[in-house]
Amino acid sequence: MPSLAGKPIGHNGLGLMRLTWKDDVTPDEKAFKILKAALAAGVNVWNGADFYGTPDNNSLHLMNRYFTAYPEDAEKVVLTIKSGIKDMRTFTMDCSPEAVREFVERANVILDGKKKIDIFGCGRVDKNVPIEDTVVALAELVKEGKIGGIQLSEVSANTIRRAAKMAKIDMVEAEISLWATDVFENGVAETCGELGIPMIAHTPLGAGMLTGQIKSLDEMPANDYHRFFPRFQPENFETNLQLVAKLDEISAKKSCTTAQLALSWIKVQSHRDGMPVIVPVAGARSEQRVMENATDVPLSDEDMAEIKAILDKFPVAGDRYPPAAAKLTEY
Ligand SMILES: NC(=O)c1ccc[n+]([C@@H]2O[C@H](COP(=O)([O-])OP(=O)(O)OC[C@H]3O[C@@H](n4cnc5c(N)ncnc54)[C@H](OP(=O)(O)O)[C@@H]3O)[C@@H](O)[C@H]2O)c1
Repeated sequence: MPSLAGKPIGHNGLGLMRLTWKDDVTPDEKAFKILKAALAAGVNVWNGADFYGTPDNNSLHLMNRYFTAYPEDAEKVVLTIKSGIKDMRTFTMDCSPEAVREFVERANVILDGKKKIDIFGCGRVDKNVPIEDTVVALAELVKEGKIGGIQLSEVSANTIRRAAKMAKIDMVEAEISLWATDVFENGVAETCGELGIPMIAHTPLGAGMLTGQIKSLDEMPANDYHRFFPRFQPENFETNLQLVAKLDEISAKKSCTTAQLALSWIKVQSHRDGMPVIVPVAGARSEQRVMENATDVPLSDEDMAEIKAILDKFPVAGDRYPPAAAKLTEY
């Protein structure tokens, strides 16, 4: 069984982002049922951030409330928290040693001892602070018991190597999905495999597109920020629908849902030579979807080859991020 920060983990995780989304907060009564269903299905890696929501209600507040209600679950969950955004409007990072210490202390005040942060890191690299400085500061916080481990997010292979020279890196988070395969081509996954660092696949369902459930742009919620992303612009969306239609055909043949196919494809990557453990953290706001997403579908070499042929024939149209957000990522 794989482990993260010294705790055993299942091979499916849960994205917490949408549960505290600013204009669309999931009421606790419903959120708690989703979280309970996740744990019952072995989905014990919970991926949050202090910027998923508002300063007064983000992943940390939800975790405080959940573990106050269910203290017995605290030890079962591996909670990963991203931080480091100084100004959300301009997406300005501050990952200086002083700032990361302050972010961690603030997070622990909100959690109020109800749950330990198992893994903590900056959502993006702060281009004004050498990664070595950020990581050394985080390592001190690990030593002091304020966080359990260190994560990186959206980083290049070179950054991972530099960081790993300074301290133990427990996890690397990256966008990985059927339409975000960059890490398999740019050395990120290979480096994590070599250094024994588990990876978290964020946005593993392409923000819902790879479930086959979005057939027109009108079906995307008005407050979903992905509406502004290149892949969801009308000129790209229609092309990307063709890719999804082909994936729908395979899932129909395999009697599974396209969401299950998309998530299983990610998990199969973990078994390839030289690859790290890769755990997808799909966001889902119903117990049914959480259970659906946690159901693995066996994919044969022939299935994988068929999927590859589709990806080759229907390359995704549009970049991963709009230019302003792309500046913060390292590829
Ligand atoms: N490090 C980073 O830069 C970064 C960036 C973005 C996200 N993340 C992490 O990745 C997590 C997931 O991101 P995400 O939620 O944007 O994208 P996602 O997991 O790719 O897709 C979630 C979307 O798919 C829908 N969905 C989920 N399961 C479904 C199913 N079985 N059938 C049909 N629709 C389904 C969800 O709807 P409902 O919610 O309505 O159920 C939601 O709209 C976040 O929570 C966050 O933890 C990290």
